Amino acid sequence: MATVSFDKATRVYPGSTKPAVDQLEIEIADGEFLVLVGPSGCGKSTSLRMLAGLEDVNAGAIRIGERDVTHLPPKDRDIAMVFQNYALYPHMSVADNMGFALKIAGVNKADIRKKVEEAAKILDLSEYLDRKPKALSGGQRQRVAMGRAIVREPQVFLMDEPLSNLDAKLRVSTRTQIASLQRRLGITTVYVTHDQVEAMTMGDRVAVLKDGLLQQVDSPRNMYDRPNNLFVAGFIGSPAMNLVEVPITDGGVKFGNSVVPVSREALAAAADKGDKTVTVGVRPEHFDLAEDSTSGTLSKEAPAGLAVVVNVVEELGADGYVYGTADLGSEKKDIVVRVNGRAVPDKGAKLHVVPRAGETHVFSTSTGERLTD
Ligand SMILES: Nc1ncnc2c1ncn2[C@@H]1O[C@H](COP(=O)(O)OP(=O)(O)O)[C@@H](O)[C@H]1O
Ligand SMILES: [Mg+2]
Repeated sequence: MATVSFDKATRVYPGSTKPAVDQLEIEIADGEFLVLVGPSGCGKSTSLRMLAGLEDVNAGAIRIGERDVTHLPPKDRDIAMVFQNYALYPHMSVADNMGFALKIAGVNKADIRKKVEEAAKILDLSEYLDRKPKALSGGQRQRVAMGRAIVREPQVFLMDEPLSNLDAKLRVSTRTQIASLQRRLGITTVYVTHDQVEAMTMGDRVAVLKDGLLQQVDSPRNMYDRPNNLFVAGFIGSPAMNLVEVPITDGGVKFGNSVVPVSREALAAAADKGDKTVTVGVRPEHFDLAEDSTSGTLSKEAPAGLAVVVNVVEELGADGYVYGTADLGSEKKDIVVRVNGRAVPDKGAKLHVVPRAGETHVFSTSTGERLTD
């Protein structure tokens, strides 16, 4: 077992001027499950391949434990990688596929058989050891690929979208299996996915990449509760956080007829950049529905919050999601609001939504940086 560090590791592909991975800096703890996530082309595979030794590192360094592996060939790094396409040998049995790396390493037959049988037991593959890969289901092939990594007892597991060839249901059950297996084995793991739900459910920590640049490394909880910038705010969470550009007023920012309190420092930081607006983020579950005061006693006052006209209601049983449009004066904005699944509004109804105190996020409109604590 070992720690892994990316120390300003950079990869510039030949013929390109822009780094595919730009000064990546992450310290991964011994036994940790770290997930690299981001949209397609953001540099996830390149980062993993640099760690594997399959891609040159043009600047910076990579360490596994105390060893600087930056320029070591893959075979000397003590890692095992699971790829998206599994890369099983079609003419070999499951047992031979799983034991192949050990055979190459000169391990004797009896020891190979023992390790393969142990791994097969953990992965529920014992009865398939004599089959060829083509006689297995997608999920079983995926487990063989895992088994091949496990038998090597590496210091680090690397996995690049290992679930993307499975159907949706199997993907969900397999992600739980991989996460619990990793915790049982305690082997430091770097796992790549473009799926933020996979990242959030599997990782001890999650690293979000965009355009080769690390945006944030954090526990799933912190990533969700306190995104560093607009990109992370919009990327993590489904349905996504509502992000609304609003004018700055005294002591806060105006969100419809409500004022969202924002610290003086944060407003000053925005004003320093010459911004007249900030971007307020509210997750769909962090809106309260205001009583419609036109039907109550406070009939003179405009209803609190933001008026949202309901376009579509998605009923998921426990919850409902309202997809609506808010009129912000200067523009119309799509808003998603989570509501009680047993009390969903009708299409065309008008709701007044108020962001819950303490659950708003404020970002600089110009730089995207988080302004609130
Ligand atoms: N072998 C290569 N040669 C040149 N450019 C590449 C190569 N592999 C990847 N890239 C580019 O590097 C960037 C990052 O790619 P990649 O790491 O595969 O992203 P991801 O895995 O996040 O989808 C992309 O712009 C991609 O086009
Ligand atoms: Mg990739």
